[in-house]
Amino acid sequence: MADRSKQLIIAIDGPAGSGKSTVSKMVAKKLDLLYLDTGAMYRALTLKAMQAKLDLENEKQLIDMVKDTKIQIETRPRAKSIKVFLDGKDVTHKIRTPKLTDNIKYIAKVPGVRKCMVKMQRQIAAKKGAVLEGRDTTTVVFPDANYKFYLDANIAERSKRRFKDLSAICVDISIEDVKEDVRVRDESDKTRKVAPLKKAEDAICIDTTNMSIDEVVDRILSEVKS
Ligand code: C5P
Repeated sequence: MADRSKQLIIAIDGPAGSGKSTVSKMVAKKLDLLYLDTGAMYRALTLKAMQAKLDLENEKQLIDMVKDTKIQIETRPRAKSIKVFLDGKDVTHKIRTPKLTDNIKYIAKVPGVRKCMVKMQRQIAAKKGAVLEGRDTTTVVFPDANYKFYLDANIAERSKRRFKDLSAICVDISIEDVKEDVRVRDESDKTRKVAPLKKAEDAICIDTTNMSIDEVVDRILSEVKS
């Protein structure tokens, strides 16, 4: 049993469409912890850089921008959704477009940007304990988390889930294009030099391909309670 004298931290990593967001939200609600979608933070930064028409290859510009950025994530448990605020403005929907998703890689690979994000994520999570999800929450943000999970699923299933999510917010895209986007994003997240997506050695791996959301949530909760 993990040390419970500190705030409880549950970190969940995995590729796009592995079920992290839905599952993390539910686990956080059950355990009365904060839910932190770290991907939404990288998305918000990307939006700001695009709106300011920054050169996405210019690391200094990006780092200066991050230092002057406020991101707030509001969890609305009843609505099972989050709201994302960038410098006080609600950008919840704007950060989900395919064009923006395509540009995140430029921001996510900059060490100085990640350093600021990790600091912010640790501060937010330390307040009352949290379920964090993303690509490096088990390896960089909280390598000493009480519980660490790596969620995965085959690419066909992950693409199907992403397609459903995007259709629900009226993004017009074909399943083939979603699959290609997921494949390209996997590649870039797993091969970047800084904080690549990988399974932490001591993370519990769950293949969610043939599991329902409730089954995955129960599996995680059974580990946390045992
Ligand atoms: O989780 P989501 O798909 O919204 O994340 C979008 C992108 O943000 C990822 O593909 C990845 O490039 C980046 N990201 C990251 N580190 C995190 C979370 C997300 O680099 N902890």
